[in-house]
Amino acid sequence: MDAKTRPDTATKLRANGVERQFISGKSKVQALGPLDLTVRDGEFVCLVGPSGCGKSTFLRIVNGLLPPTAGTLDLWLDDGRAATSMVFQDYGVLPWKTVLANVRFGLDLAKVPRKEANARAADWIRRLGLAGFEKAYPATLSGGMRQRVAIARALAVQPQILLMDEPFAAVDAQMRVVLQEVLLKVWEEDRRTVIFVTHSLEEALVLGDRVVVVSARPGRVVADITVPFDRPRAGDLRGTPEFAALHQDVWDVLRDEVQASLAAGKEST
Ligand SMILES: Nc1ncnc2c1ncn2[C@@H]1O[C@H](COP(=O)(O)OP(=O)(O)O)[C@@H](O)[C@H]1O
Ligand SMILES: [Mg+2]
Repeated sequence: MDAKTRPDTATKLRANGVERQFISGKSKVQALGPLDLTVRDGEFVCLVGPSGCGKSTFLRIVNGLLPPTAGTLDLWLDDGRAATSMVFQDYGVLPWKTVLANVRFGLDLAKVPRKEANARAADWIRRLGLAGFEKAYPATLSGGMRQRVAIARALAVQPQILLMDEPFAAVDAQMRVVLQEVLLKVWEEDRRTVIFVTHSLEEALVLGDRVVVVSARPGRVVADITVPFDRPRAGDLRGTPEFAALHQDVWDVLRDEVQASLAAGKEST
């Protein structure tokens, strides 16, 4: 931790001109940036932007899976707790492990003693509404339940920053609303820092404290909107005129980027 450069003690993450280039053979793709973003401790930040604009690339950089090719990414982390964990759209649950063993996975890697790991995993299973399914295998579960397992597993290690990459994109519309409610409920219990990527502006506005609109590739921040709705958020928020008005405002910005992306034939992922 560098106390000199930390803007203030509430800052958890700062991306400063972060860029990522991919080189394959002779062609270079500027996938991301320069992207500037600051996230405060405990904030729920949603990223929306056209397909292929670099959102997943950014999460991989935050997760430490991929170095930036320019710029800096600073995280201010507390000692002794997992830094980040990631939830993906449609993988991450191990088919050969039971629900309990899947949720315990990160704890096993961290060498948490089995008894404590089982207790912690069981607690997260209960909080995600999966009690009774501890011994089930993923193949016997619906897509929505498998995503609950993935979320329970990511949260069980108590990451300081939870990264979610379109986690609900593969489930049907009703299940998506249910999963949003489940996530809101567990998040509101301890408000950890979340960066949540979604295609759905509605989802971003229901979940987030902020919605960050990312431009067509290479992704830069084109708008950073504070979502003013009270918490805990009620299910009928979507039906309010305030919600519709904010949705329209943000969509006006996002639509330009989606069109730019289509025009450039950049919707490559
Ligand atoms: N490992 C890679 N090698 C080459 N190109 C990549 C790689 N990963 C991503 N890209 C390219 O970078 C761009 C951004 O990808 P991605 O971050 O997955 O976008 P998003 O998640 O916003 O849809 C895309 O054009 C994609 O094809
Ligand atoms: Mg992606």
